[in-house]
Amino acid sequence: MRISVIGCGYLGAVHASAMAELGLDVIGIDVDESKIARLQAAEPPFFEPGLPEILATATASGRLTFSTDIADAKGATVHFVAVGTPQKPGSHAADLRFVDAAVEALLPHLNPGDLVVGKSTVPVGTAERLAALVEPTGASLAWNPEFLREGFAVKDTIEPDRLVYGVRDDHAVEVLDQVYRVALEAGTPRIVTDYATAELVKVAANAFLATKISFINAMAEIAEVTGADVTQLADAIGHDARIGRRFLGAGVGFGGGCLPKDIRAFTARAEELGKGESVAFLKEVDSINLRRRDRVVDLAIDALGGSVNDRKIAVLGVAFKPHSDDVRDSPALDVAVRLKGLGARVVATDPEGIENARARHPQLDYNASLDETLRDADLVVLVTEWPEFRGLDPVATGEIVAGKRVIDGRNSYDPAAWRAAGWEYRGL
Ligand code: UGA
Repeated sequence: MRISVIGCGYLGAVHASAMAELGLDVIGIDVDESKIARLQAAEPPFFEPGLPEILATATASGRLTFSTDIADAKGATVHFVAVGTPQKPGSHAADLRFVDAAVEALLPHLNPGDLVVGKSTVPVGTAERLAALVEPTGASLAWNPEFLREGFAVKDTIEPDRLVYGVRDDHAVEVLDQVYRVALEAGTPRIVTDYATAELVKVAANAFLATKISFINAMAEIAEVTGADVTQLADAIGHDARIGRRFLGAGVGFGGGCLPKDIRAFTARAEELGKGESVAFLKEVDSINLRRRDRVVDLAIDALGGSVNDRKIAVLGVAFKPHSDDVRDSPALDVAVRLKGLGARVVATDPEGIENARARHPQLDYNASLDETLRDADLVVLVTEWPEFRGLDPVATGEIVAGKRVIDGRNSYDPAAWRAAGWEYRGL
């Protein structure tokens, strides 16, 4: 089976490589020439654990090729659309221009019997509209949302928790079953449904995850004024299997290219459908989340006696989460930029995210060395819990800094150990 993957970003590049790893012939297509040149040289254009290895094997085997010419999709019978759906500038809605452009560009190259498979996260109703464009060519459309997490994208693609097919005919099911044969044989649950349900499953899952994080962060706000410990609270409620401990990590909140824009786009779409009140709580989820960033900034001002002006602040982390170089809507980078805006001498470090952060915020100082970032700092702010930051020794770190003050924006440290080493510790 030969497939094309249109869009070679965080989602498409992993999908293309993983499908080739599983034995399919794959052509990855993207309009970005520099990205395609890197992929052709088996160099991932972003950091993702495990991707370099499968990309190298698949390109060397000849099963995986890349092109900037959509006409090269012609020999494939299944075409995955994996382009981005960012937030529309000046609006909360999803910007569908890349999805629309990809499908329109593909139309002249489709053959009867081909299957176009949407993977991008889209507002409910999009698949129905795109099907009307695809079907006159004799091809059909399926919506097959993706649930991969950055940092675990290869594993999540090869061994997904579940497969969701939004389809209109049995042919689409047969084709997708062939594509996902390995996962299905391993017992992966498969839900076959209509377009609207498939589209909604994706946004509902992300809305639920965002709600879970904001729920625990709301509890953190109450814990802060009552002296309660939100981490113990999360442990205690998390033992209830109906609640579960995962995604109850209180801290500076969620960011990235998915959760924040997906809950906003969902709200915007529900409003268009006249059902804004059904998901009005997601606005609160968003507000709670953004308030946590304010809280870190306020704690920094407080820790430095009322002003951060001209004080050196070591910001640990710029990526939106560990094991990723992605800085889209990153709480860490947002905090760094705000502290800089208040006059602090900010130095930010991150194992993988500096290049992307610098492209967006060249005004910040970055240092790849953790020690140099910490040296002579008046305040240390942990905002992305990379293992190397979590593992900092409070005694040794105390010898490098100018002032032993730490803000633990991810509740990653043991407050007692830091206090015992003479630090003023503030957590969320
Ligand atoms: C998220 C979903 O988890 C994936 O299932 C989904 O496929 C993906 O979006 C997508 O729509 O493409 P991702 O954005 O890679 O994946 O990252 P997550 O691991 O979900 O983390 C999101 C944010 O929540 C991060 O900023 C993380 O630091 C934060 N988070 C996570 C918390 O603040 N607390 C937690 O307990 C967990």
